[in-house]
Amino acid sequence: MKILAIESSCDETAAAVVEDGRTILSSVVATQIEEHKLYGGVVPEIASRRHCESINGVVAEALERAQISFDGLDAVAVTYAPGLIGALLVGVNFAKGLSLATGLPLIPVHHLRSHIASNYLEHSRLKPPFLCLVVSGGHSHIVEVKDYTEMKIIGKTRDDAAGEAFDKAARTMGMSYPGGIHLDQAAESGDPLSFSLPRPKVDGSPYDFSFSGLKTAVINQIHNASQKGLTLPVNDLSASFRKAVVDCLMTNFIKAAEDFGYEQLVLAGGVSANSLLRKRIREECEKRRWHYFYPPLSLCGDNAAMVGAQGYYEYLAGHTASTDLNARPTMSIEYNPPCKTV
Ligand code: KG4
Ligand code: ZN
Repeated sequence: MKILAIESSCDETAAAVVEDGRTILSSVVATQIEEHKLYGGVVPEIASRRHCESINGVVAEALERAQISFDGLDAVAVTYAPGLIGALLVGVNFAKGLSLATGLPLIPVHHLRSHIASNYLEHSRLKPPFLCLVVSGGHSHIVEVKDYTEMKIIGKTRDDAAGEAFDKAARTMGMSYPGGIHLDQAAESGDPLSFSLPRPKVDGSPYDFSFSGLKTAVINQIHNASQKGLTLPVNDLSASFRKAVVDCLMTNFIKAAEDFGYEQLVLAGGVSANSLLRKRIREECEKRRWHYFYPPLSLCGDNAAMVGAQGYYEYLAGHTASTDLNARPTMSIEYNPPCKTV
């Protein structure tokens, strides 16, 4: 089954053609990062406008690279939630138009579910059930993936997402948006024990996260130093901050795996590109003889191939939509979209 997939939830306009949820026939991503960098973060109105300008060309290129026409496709999948509403609406309306014009079934895909599915494109033997740490710019969840379309959140952040904390700390250190990757690179040559930072816990919720106190602690250290005319060593501060975030993520993730009896652990989302997080999951799982998976770096960030992968499993579960499908800025990963009765 060949699916044309579209993603426009934030600042990348992307389209891909994916076969049977596991094979990428083409994947095109047009990023807007350079423009949003000027403002230190994503400006929603600019994002929507750029999606409108790019989507036609990006979809055409995905079809061309896959050497396929609409006749060769079996369905259109699109990210419909969660994300920036104006940005999502561009992809959703484009996909609805295509579905209407071609008669192809329309498959709504949850953005975080698609991040999880990016792993299916790389690891042919990966199948649910497994426990997944989904860490992106807007979310930090520990999710039981009981089946391809059956998920249960067992832990989540009470305030900032891990990616958001990385980006804000990086910005205070003078790094450009999105700072997570720059902080990660700076940390490689720093001493993780040089600054003492907290590992915040959420009382009574051993699987939940809280990153805002940690973010504030590092920002305060930088501001206090600058008031005294001092500049802190960015590499050491980055390494200490990265270790603190990864300690919090891994402590809860491993505890959840032990408590819920999972021996197959998966990372997903933009922050799964973090080199320390990837190293730590390898070490922790090898020690326990557990299986572990993470996406290739090329599929950690937003892309449409992952939407095509998850779209395949949503289709098999009967989750197709009519042209009254709407975009949603928030939506739990647990929620299955209302199905069209076929
Ligand atoms: O999943 P994603 O591409 O977009 C959302 O759905 O939010 O995640 C983007 C987030 C950003 O906060 C970015 O800084 C972070 O992922 N990120 C990283 C790294 N690469 C991307 N954070 C830490 N280390 C990295 N290497
Ligand atoms: Zn994302």
